Amino acid sequence: MEGKTVGGSKIEMSAIMQPNQANPAGNVHGGEIMKMMDNAAFVCAQRHALTNVVTARVDELTFHLPIYVGNLVICQAKLTFVGRSSMEVAVNVFVEDLYSSDPNQKALSGYFTMIALNAGKKPICVPPLEITAEEEQADYERGRERYNNYKCLRKA
Ligand SMILES: CC(C)(COP(=O)(O)OP(=O)(O)OC[C@H]1O[C@@H](n2cnc3c(N)ncnc32)[C@H](O)[C@@H]1OP(=O)(O)O)[C@@H](O)C(=O)NCCC(=O)NCCS
Repeated sequence: MEGKTVGGSKIEMSAIMQPNQANPAGNVHGGEIMKMMDNAAFVCAQRHALTNVVTARVDELTFHLPIYVGNLVICQAKLTFVGRSSMEVAVNVFVEDLYSSDPNQKALSGYFTMIALNAGKKPICVPPLEITAEEEQADYERGRERYNNYKCLRKA
């Protein structure tokens, strides 16, 4: 199977946070952003696999900063590692305060493992990841480590 590049599937999605996504103090619920991250990971993995994908695991999900109603949330997703049917997607969420000219800040990050499924809902092979940059190689090595760690845990 021919490889596909990281750039070929990466995606950026953005949305303004609304009052119905927040608690009474204006803090956006974590689950709202996690859903956005899951959607971005889904699009990224499906672009690569060109078949249905499901989320199997989330690693290192971290909330770095609070997000408030009225903030612009920018969610970036890119593939870091591909196994046989599994794809690891790094998702980073940035927040823009539309009332200030301060630079965007990272609010959340995490790694989503997505599995490609065939029409019978069974895992199927996906194209390998074609690495074209040093940074992508480093991401790939760390992704492979998480993949191998998971395999070891599963065996134990
Ligand atoms: C994901 C799922 C299809 C895997 O099924 P399975 O029978 O364990 O599949 P396999 O053992 O053949 O593993 C297939 C791949 O998934 C990976 N995988 C399975 N479970 C995983 C997990 N929890 N974390 C990370 N990777 C996982 C395996 O490492 C393997 O990767 P590889 O093909 O790249 O080597 C199955 O567990 C499932 O349907 N889970 C629910 C998914 C879902 O509905 N998500 C949305 C929840 S709301």
